[in-house]
Amino acid sequence: MEDHQNSEAPPTFIPALFKPPSLLPIARHRAALLYLVETFPVVIVVGQTGSGKTTQIPQFLNDAGWCNDGKIVAVTQPRRVAATTVAARVAQEMRCELGQEVGFSIRFEDVTSAKTKIKFLTDGLLLREALVDPLLSRYSVIMVDEAHERSLSSDVLLGLLKKIRKRRPELRIIISSATLQAEDFLNFFAGGEEGVRESDGADELGGDVGRIISLEGRMYPVDIHCLEEPTEDYVERAVKTVLDIHIKEAEGDILLFLTGREEIERAIDLISDKISELGIKSPSLQALPMYAGLPTDQQMYVFEPAAEDTRKVIISTNIAEASITIDGIVFVIDCGFVKLRAYNPNSGIETLTATPVSKASATQRAGRAGRTKAGKCYRLYTEQASNALEEATVPEIQRSNLAPIILQLKALGIDNIARFDYLTPPPAELIIRALELLFSLGALDDYAKLTKPLGLRMAELSVEPMMAKVLLSAPSFNCLSEILTIAAMTSLQASVWFYHDDRKKATETARRKFAVEEGDHLTLLNVYQAFVTRGKKDAKWCRDHYINYKAMTQAVSIRNQLRRYLERFGIEVAESLNAPEVMRVGGMDKEEMIRRCLTMGYFSHAARMQSDGSFKSVNGLTLWAHPSSLMFNRKADWVIFHEIMETGKKIFIRDVTKIEKGWLLEYAPSFYHVK
Ligand code: CDP
Ligand code: MG
Repeated sequence: MEDHQNSEAPPTFIPALFKPPSLLPIARHRAALLYLVETFPVVIVVGQTGSGKTTQIPQFLNDAGWCNDGKIVAVTQPRRVAATTVAARVAQEMRCELGQEVGFSIRFEDVTSAKTKIKFLTDGLLLREALVDPLLSRYSVIMVDEAHERSLSSDVLLGLLKKIRKRRPELRIIISSATLQAEDFLNFFAGGEEGVRESDGADELGGDVGRIISLEGRMYPVDIHCLEEPTEDYVERAVKTVLDIHIKEAEGDILLFLTGREEIERAIDLISDKISELGIKSPSLQALPMYAGLPTDQQMYVFEPAAEDTRKVIISTNIAEASITIDGIVFVIDCGFVKLRAYNPNSGIETLTATPVSKASATQRAGRAGRTKAGKCYRLYTEQASNALEEATVPEIQRSNLAPIILQLKALGIDNIARFDYLTPPPAELIIRALELLFSLGALDDYAKLTKPLGLRMAELSVEPMMAKVLLSAPSFNCLSEILTIAAMTSLQASVWFYHDDRKKATETARRKFAVEEGDHLTLLNVYQAFVTRGKKDAKWCRDHYINYKAMTQAVSIRNQLRRYLERFGIEVAESLNAPEVMRVGGMDKEEMIRRCLTMGYFSHAARMQSDGSFKSVNGLTLWAHPSSLMFNRKADWVIFHEIMETGKKIFIRDVTKIEKGWLLEYAPSFYHVK
């Protein structure tokens, strides 16, 4: 598998550091669990984070024969990081190479083989597999892990599994959850289509459909401290708390929850400043980041025990709340916020905003401190604020852009979206808005039926609908090779550029070398073309230009995968590596063709520059080019953009490209005429 030589091999297995699975709380429940799985189609497993659900259950199932005759046990995760780290861990425990008996599959990265028996994958990817294998017949058991997180895809997956179960009585479904929503899940599966109990033979909850098993792992008490007065800057406050703990408290590692990468990096900097300021030498303090975009090798550090005479402080996003287990945590610091995606159906804008956590989340975070001994949790908010928190986080399905998932459901043959069996139904406005967008992209017809081949192909392509439309429009603009590259580059998880704080200027100069006047998309194309002609075999070239070699290698792999999809649709890709500005097609510059083609998909993401340098969106919002964009501090008139996000008080747009107003009316008449 060409793509994976660069993925990290799991860290070397060190038997001395390995806590025998027989000591995990789940070990005592092994027989009961296997009995329930044997007897009931649906089993709900509830247990504290760290009790062994994710790593042990698939191994129990494998040992009990659920992977015989070529069948596979699937374990879904809402997050890519969880799928990869947990797969690496289970491969270590089973002493096999990752990708052999144990593998993982996430979008654009499949590390499995014909030998794979236990497969960790994202919930979204399993849904996607249903497009080619509607009954998910390769799997004997499907474990929907972290179901309490209520991710959009796992919610929809549960609805789909409920349908599949009727056609595949032998299929086993395990739902694992860290909090007590178990009865809701069981009622969902035991209920008929109209919400009536399917089975009333037995009195017990779940009838003959399912059972709940609870792993009452030992929890030590956690002492909770709130602030007397609210803090102005929780990052600074968190850093102060870390140092207070380090100086005053006995040994034990610290887990600090912040909301995102920037905050995490700022906290790490502040901590190292403080360490040198206070002259702390021994015991030393080692700060480690943990967030989704972090390179895999660095993610692995958080699981390794600290060196002797060193206290680890792991500074993490919400990932460490339940998705991953880090041992040895005695102190938790909770900033009280989490970054949540929220989609506003009126403005059509998706925001990623720091939002107060729910009570359930706060409890879960505090609980991370009581795994090995009595612990302490410092909440960086007042008790009053704590009492005012919402009970539970709003499920993602009620606050997301539903266009991608509705496109998927339609492609799965589920036509009546409003009547699909949801765990929690999405609000009507979200459904309507998604249908409108899919209609204006041409994926749905006047009767809201999936169009063929356009709509079906858009669903099959593993990029979001707007980019899928651009890709499928590219042949008629004669720029498929270039658009494939742009689609791959905008699908990257990691940044193309390396930022060195101490060499900001040099980075910026290097970056400007690739800049194309018309905007970020063409700049990305430029970088890619330079990489494949110059830097592909030359890591030094990348370093010299501050380009992330690994991200670029990933882009090459993503591009190949997208290309294979198109070839399967019978679309030929004529590769061209010429600089866009030197190519003229029918009297038009190639770069203009590319910008027109982008408008085919991103017409709803259009905005016009104002005299103060901000942009006004078509529905009247004020937007700002993100500092990472070429359009930051440059002149433009109309633009389209790939991504929009709200941070602080400003709404930023990223990956911005100049277009002409006339193209909007030309390519999206129905969308712009209603306005
Ligand atoms: O899924 P659940 O939260 O119930 O637990 P798990 O993820 O299966 O973790 C069980 C135990 O495995 C943890 O307490 C850790 O000791 C260990 N583990 C680890 O050391 N490294 C990992 N990457 C994952 C788990
Ligand atoms: Mg788990």
